[in-house]
This record gives sequence, structure tokens and C-alpha cells, in this order.
Amino acid sequence: VIIPVILAGGSGTRLWPLSRECHPKQLLPLVNDKTMLQNTLLRVQGLKGVSLPIVVCTEEHRFLVAEQVRAIGCAATIIIEPVGRDTAPAVAVAALEAVGQNEEAIILVLPADHVIDNEMNFAEAVARGVSFASHGQPVTFGIVPQSPHTGYGYIKKGSEISGAEPPVFAVDGFVEKPSLEKAREYLAEGYLWNSGMFLFPAAGFLATLKEFEPTMADCVARAYVARTHDLDFTRLDSLAFSESPANSVDYAVMERVRDTVVVPLDCSWSDVGSWEALWEIGEQDAQGNVFIGNVLAEGVSGCYIHAGDKLVAAIGLSNHIIVETKDALLVAAKDRTQEVKAIVKRLTLEK
Ligand code: GDD
Ligand code: MG
Repeated sequence: VIIPVILAGGSGTRLWPLSRECHPKQLLPLVNDKTMLQNTLLRVQGLKGVSLPIVVCTEEHRFLVAEQVRAIGCAATIIIEPVGRDTAPAVAVAALEAVGQNEEAIILVLPADHVIDNEMNFAEAVARGVSFASHGQPVTFGIVPQSPHTGYGYIKKGSEISGAEPPVFAVDGFVEKPSLEKAREYLAEGYLWNSGMFLFPAAGFLATLKEFEPTMADCVARAYVARTHDLDFTRLDSLAFSESPANSVDYAVMERVRDTVVVPLDCSWSDVGSWEALWEIGEQDAQGNVFIGNVLAEGVSGCYIHAGDKLVAAIGLSNHIIVETKDALLVAAKDRTQEVKAIVKRLTLEK
């Protein structure tokens, strides 16, 4: 049985001022009328052999998450993290829950903030991955890259695994978020983008975590054993969980585990990590503009303009981002939207 695990606990600071602590990226409708979380849930619903998904999120977002699950007629096990400890502990609690449901369970870990255009390719890649994961192997999904993006991790392909058609590869290494220069090299050398999506036998994941992160494995296990049920939520023990070291699943497990295979996934994919990414995947007019809401423009090209409360008018601009919300306005050069993170950092420091 395949149990989807949806990671929905990130803060998504790069889409400020739309995404806020109370409304992070994965809980916003960014590309259609469904939120990123809802699109993720609907995507897994269409897969063969999957059972009820597990959503792992923070305390503050639990009601919003529950409401978004309900609104699309889905059901899910919702596990609440008392504090954020990055993605490795989040996956670990979901693996414990999955093993409790079925000792042979395979977890399909999916970040809640991805846009995938070709759902057929996605479903096929998952099915191919399952044939390896059901024999105990960790499987990652590598996106065929479109550009030397510096906001993603890269996977170096190793030797081709015989008999798989289309081809599947051994993993030769991971590189997390390289410099632009390095990213260009990797692109030329045929590396894949690390999608952050993977398949892992749940019991195998826990054994691997114990090997590489024994303290984390111990804290998470104690937090899970002492869990409580409150309404529809599973709440972890706060003291035990907060004692866990923080680490991402990439660093804690995926980069260290042996025998991983990578299934290349050739589809239009984005983790919408910036306003520029939203412009890229948005519906552009003949001048290359994406306008959302009430926007009036003259002589404007290559811009992304998001009007929230007010009418936004722009004249003679190119390659800019404008995002207007009730209490904040962002005006930025389109190629510098990664720096929104720095603004958010200043906001929290100067608050
Ligand atoms: N439950 C939970 N708890 N979820 C979390 C937490 C946490 O503490 N921290 C992050 N998440 C969720 C986010 O909501 C997101 O869906 C996912 O985990 C990945 O976290 P990000 O913070 O968005 O990671 P990233 O985008 O910087 O990098 C990762 O994803 C890229 C692809 O989107 C890495 O795996 C990169 O290598 C990869 O390219
Ligand atoms: Mg991300």
C-alpha cells in the first residue's frame, strides 16, 4: 500500500506580501481556484493503489488545513507538529504513522507547494518508482531541468539501471542549491532538479533515520508514542518533539542513504518559490505580462502585477513585479525576487 505524505509546514517567505505566517504559500490559491495543498491532494487521489494521505503541518495552520481538505471532499490524517523542526522529523512521524497502519507501507512524500502540469507523466513516474520501492529501494524523482535555477537542489545521475524503459538511474550524488555558475555546469552535465518528492518503504525510512540521525529518531519516536488525539488531529508530544534536532530530509536521509534510484520526470514543474516563478507559469499576454485582479497598464511588458484591494495602474514598465495587498506593497525588479526573503527577515527582526 502506498501512503501519500504531504509536507505542508513551510513558511513560504519568498512570496511576501501575499504569503504570510498565517497564510503560507501552500495554503494559497496561486495558480487556479484551488490552493497548492488542495491541488496536491487531488493529484494523489488520481494515483493507483494509494490510501488515505497523511498531512503534516504546524499548530497554527491546522484549522485552515482541515478546512481545505474538507472543501474538496477529501479525507486525510492530519498530524500537527508542535514546533517546526524542518522536513526530516516531519517525514519521520508520518513514517511511524504509516508503519502503524501497515508494516509494508511505502510512503510517497510530496511537498504541498508544487505545480505539476502533466499529471499523466507524474502518475507514470510514480508507478515506475513503486516497482523499485516495493523491493525496498529509496526512489527520488528528478525533474528534467529547464534552466540553471539556483533555488533547487540537483541530482547527479549515475549508471542506467538495466531493464527499465524509459530509463531509470542510480543516484551519484546530491547538491543543494548551487551558485549560478555551478548550476550552469550541472545543466550541461545532465543533472536533474531534485523535486523533493520521493518514495521510501516506511520501515526502511525509520531504520535509515536511526542509523544517521539517532537523536532525531529517538525524539520523534517519543513524541509519536505520547501523541494525543484532539478532534480530527493527531498532536505530537511537544516536549519530546522540540528536543529533536532540526534538519531537512535531504541532508538527514536522502543524501546519505545507499542504493537510491532516480526516476526522471519530464513535465512542466515548479515549486513556485518566487514571484518570478509565478510570472513564468502564469498566462502571459502578448506583451509577456501576467495581471491578476484589477490592473490597468500602458506600455508595460514582461511584468507580473497582482492587485489585491486596489486598482493598480502601471505605465512604461518592463520586467517588474508589483504585488499589492491590504497592508503592504511590493515593487521589485523581476530578476531579484529571490531577495524578498531578505525583506521578510528584516521585517521579523525589526518588529
Ligand atoms: N511539516 C513540515 N514541517 N513541512 C515543512 C517544514 C516543517 O518543518 N519545513 C518545510 N516544510 C514543507 C514545505 O511546506 C514544502 O512543502 C516542503 O516541506 C519543502 O520545504 P521548502 O522549504 O519549500 O524546501 P525548498 O523548496 O527550499 O527545497 C527543497 O525542495 C526543492 C524542490 O521544491 C529541497 O528538497 C530542494 O532540493 C528541492 O529542489
Ligand atoms: Mg519549496
